[in-house]
Amino acid sequence: MTREQIEALKAEVEALQCKTEQEIEEARVRFLGKKGEITRLFEEFRTVDKDQKKEFGQVLNQLKNAAAAKIEELKAVAQTFAASASASAYDLTKPGDSYPLGSRHPVSIVREEIVGIFRKFGYDVAEGPEVEDDWHVFEALNFPPEHPAREMQDTFFVTDNDQKNPILLRTHTSCVQVRCMETMKLPIRVVCPGRVFRNEAISARAHCIFHQVEGLYIDENVTFADMKQAILLFAREMFGPETEIRMRPSYFPFTEPSAEVDVSCNICHGKGCNICKGTGWLEILGCGMVDPNVLEASGIDSKKYSGFAFGMGVERIAMLKWQVKDLRNYFENDLRFLKEFETNI
Ligand code: PHE
Repeated sequence: MTREQIEALKAEVEALQCKTEQEIEEARVRFLGKKGEITRLFEEFRTVDKDQKKEFGQVLNQLKNAAAAKIEELKAVAQTFAASASASAYDLTKPGDSYPLGSRHPVSIVREEIVGIFRKFGYDVAEGPEVEDDWHVFEALNFPPEHPAREMQDTFFVTDNDQKNPILLRTHTSCVQVRCMETMKLPIRVVCPGRVFRNEAISARAHCIFHQVEGLYIDENVTFADMKQAILLFAREMFGPETEIRMRPSYFPFTEPSAEVDVSCNICHGKGCNICKGTGWLEILGCGMVDPNVLEASGIDSKKYSGFAFGMGVERIAMLKWQVKDLRNYFENDLRFLKEFETNI
């Protein structure tokens, strides 16, 4: 036995690295077991010269203690590692964390439903700016100069309304029709969903912001019968296959002839209830054949082409669908109200 041997063994013990309990036990046997290297040195110790016994005895004991301490330390580390591994995020049998889901806004749900129906019929979707000019909102749509919509009381103006072609917030989505007619190749078949603005006092029945979906179909030989059919098919998709429609004559500057469309009340099925105010009918949209002046204003030959347009209020359709009569609910972001629509995602 030499001092170098003992030092080398000590260095080896200190550098020990074991990961599993099994490796630790193997190391223990190798150094401290009955036939272990340290145990063997103790046996050799008996033959050491008397005058060297004290010195060797001390270093051997140090080595033995260091080895035992190292083995204990490794065991402790292995145990905490095993405990944290079994309690970690890797327990695949645990149920997942649940996150509260948001819900779609009722206006979005209805808008998507309307647009989805017309997409199925082959219509494209087009959008236009909310801040528009007088040309697209009024002039190109055949509004006479003295029309009341052109007054400050009805329209939010961005620039002075006595200047030429003032800038304003669009009061209807019919202006997107104009943009489509100006830019798209014929035939045109589009729906245009969007937000519109009117200078109204806010109440349960009126709001200064609401949403519309506009429709426009222009081709050769488009007739009033085509319009009636498109609207009937839409109404049946939206309100159910038994739904009937009725058209009442109406007036819009940009369509001629014009009509307002009612659907049979799907609450009382025509018997009369407080939703349809006893009439059995619910008004859902305005429509008409695009006025030749409007086609010409956008550069379309009105002798060759004809078309129809319609426009409906999204909140109005949502109101009929869910009987939410106070329009303000749609804009106040009250979570108690919005959560009602969670299942309609
Ligand atoms: N723009 C009309 C409105 O806001 C609706 C409409 C659109 C009527 C298209 C006829 C044709 O009331």
